[in-house]
Amino acid sequence: MRPAKLSVQTDHTTGGFEMRSKLNTMASAAAAVVGAAALARYLVRNSRCVDIAGKVVLITGGSRGLGLVLAREFASRGSRVAICARHERELEHVREEFSEQGKHVLAVTCDVGVRAEVGRMVQTVREQLGPIGILVNNAGAIVWGPRKTKIWKPSKTPCRQISGGRSMRSLPSSTK
Ligand SMILES: NC(=O)c1ccc[n+]([C@@H]2O[C@H](COP(=O)([O-])OP(=O)(O)OC[C@H]3O[C@@H](n4cnc5c(N)ncnc54)[C@H](OP(=O)(O)O)[C@@H]3O)[C@@H](O)[C@H]2O)c1
Repeated sequence: MRPAKLSVQTDHTTGGFEMRSKLNTMASAAAAVVGAAALARYLVRNSRCVDIAGKVVLITGGSRGLGLVLAREFASRGSRVAICARHERELEHVREEFSEQGKHVLAVTCDVGVRAEVGRMVQTVREQLGPIGILVNNAGAIVWGPRKTKIWKPSKTPCRQISGGRSMRSLPSSTK
């Protein structure tokens, strides 16, 4: 007697590939969000170990997203908060939000990929708030998608950490 043949259906159609790509993209996005939430929890939990009241905190990329969440957290714990980002309009919204709550934030326009702008921004923060006690080097953007679409393009303007040392890449803004 001949054994019954097992039939395994494989999906080589374009539709199947697109579906898998979408699932991969969604999984990457979900992992990124979980990662950001874990990072924010870690930063806030550890900030309780030191007295951050009255400390000058500079958050690069603080006009929205994770940077803005951290700016609100530090301000609510009594820190003197400075943020920077490239777009003045978003910075103005943050100034308004803080002012409506009776809080102050120093919001400075600056592209962290441009060394001269970083120098000017840091000088402004020092002059107006005092020596920087905590630096949250957050500016940047996370970009995801199937590798084949090549939506990920590194910026031509590398930026250096304000504290010196290793160089890092400034990625293009997200498409949000
Ligand atoms: N969201 C996540 O799930 C996740 C996960 C892991 C890591 N991260 C990292 O966490 C950081 C923040 O992510 P996010 O999702 O909060 O990003 P986001 O919502 O896009 O916010 C990015 C912030 O950085 C500023 N920014 C971008 N390029 C800048 C530049 N060259 N100079 C100065 N400011 C700049 C943006 O303002 P302007 O556009 O006005 O400059 C904005 O304030 C990024 O470095 C990202 O790679 C995020």
